[in-house]
Amino acid sequence: EKGEYRHFMEKEIHEQPDSVQHTLSEYLDLVTGKAKTGAIDFAAIDRIQIIACGTAFYAGQIGRYTFERIAGLPCDVEIASEFRYRSPALSKSTLAVAVSQSGETADTLASLTWCKREGLKTAAVVNVHSSSMAREADILCPTHAGPEIGVASTKAFTAQVAALLALAVAAGVQRGRVDADKEAELVKALFESPRLIAECAEHHADIEAVAHDLAKARDVLFLGRGAMFPLAMEGALKLKEISYIHAEGYAAGELKHGPIALIDEETPTVALAPLDDVFEKTCSNLQEVSARGGPVIMIAPETAPAPHGADIRRIHPPDCHPLIAPLVYAVPVQLLAYYTAVHKGTDVDQPRNLAKSVTVE
Ligand code: M6R
Repeated sequence: EKGEYRHFMEKEIHEQPDSVQHTLSEYLDLVTGKAKTGAIDFAAIDRIQIIACGTAFYAGQIGRYTFERIAGLPCDVEIASEFRYRSPALSKSTLAVAVSQSGETADTLASLTWCKREGLKTAAVVNVHSSSMAREADILCPTHAGPEIGVASTKAFTAQVAALLALAVAAGVQRGRVDADKEAELVKALFESPRLIAECAEHHADIEAVAHDLAKARDVLFLGRGAMFPLAMEGALKLKEISYIHAEGYAAGELKHGPIALIDEETPTVALAPLDDVFEKTCSNLQEVSARGGPVIMIAPETAPAPHGADIRRIHPPDCHPLIAPLVYAVPVQLLAYYTAVHKGTDVDQPRNLAKSVTVE
């Protein structure tokens, strides 16, 4: 039941501190500060191939950045409907990882089965533990989001991201890339995320005010760099799904390669800008948007310097370790889509034309 909430989506956004905590505890030990040695032998593989659809695909892309950065493990991510039909060339030392909330998405399941038949080791990061994918994969990597009712995925997404980040830490340890001190730092950072997610979810007044204006837009651009790039695409997908506003997620560095042509006074740009090693670069992209009259909504910590320019509004998530920024920044992105849709009066939990589980092609 929805309880005090207007929609399941709102309830599920607020459940994320618990679902992320629960999922992290599957893979990490808070007391010892160590990654649990799970069923995956990351030292025995030389590549990961993630396969997923929709929001799970964006979680997979965030996972990819982290597997490569922390564990030095090459990782590819592909949309299952493409992977399935293009005869991909994969070595036997590749681990295929399906990511799915339902565990029933037809294209993801078929891709997983194909990998298994090709003789690859397979794993499934799934939320429904009795699903077809959970049964099909050699290794089950559960997420603990609980039942997700809203068609627009929120808590299943952050649970997938949490599982993949935790697995990347385990991979780093197993492959000798992460020493004991670093492991303790990363595990501690991950376990800080539930509290910071809760903080973001509570401070929604600023987001509601921004959403009020966003509801008037016809097109919205989402920008980010690094792991914030897939989150930008996820933000655009959320906004499209429930508010029916056209939105695109772009790597901030791609702005001048085309999308900047869209910028005008009517086209807001939402930028995901945690204080990381590419913050300055994102800022200069925002100055370019602002100089062309485009309204900017910058999601960045209060401590971050403000770029020069007119019409730059800010949403302030708390300061956080760069590893967990995709978990923490997911919340303002989800709330922005949610309040925009509520303002427009759309059917938030049952958006038109969408099904919760896509079991046909
Ligand atoms: O159950 P799955 O995670 O395999 O579903 C994948 C997509 O269909 C799903 O994420 C979809 O994109 C959602 N509507 C996103 O909000």
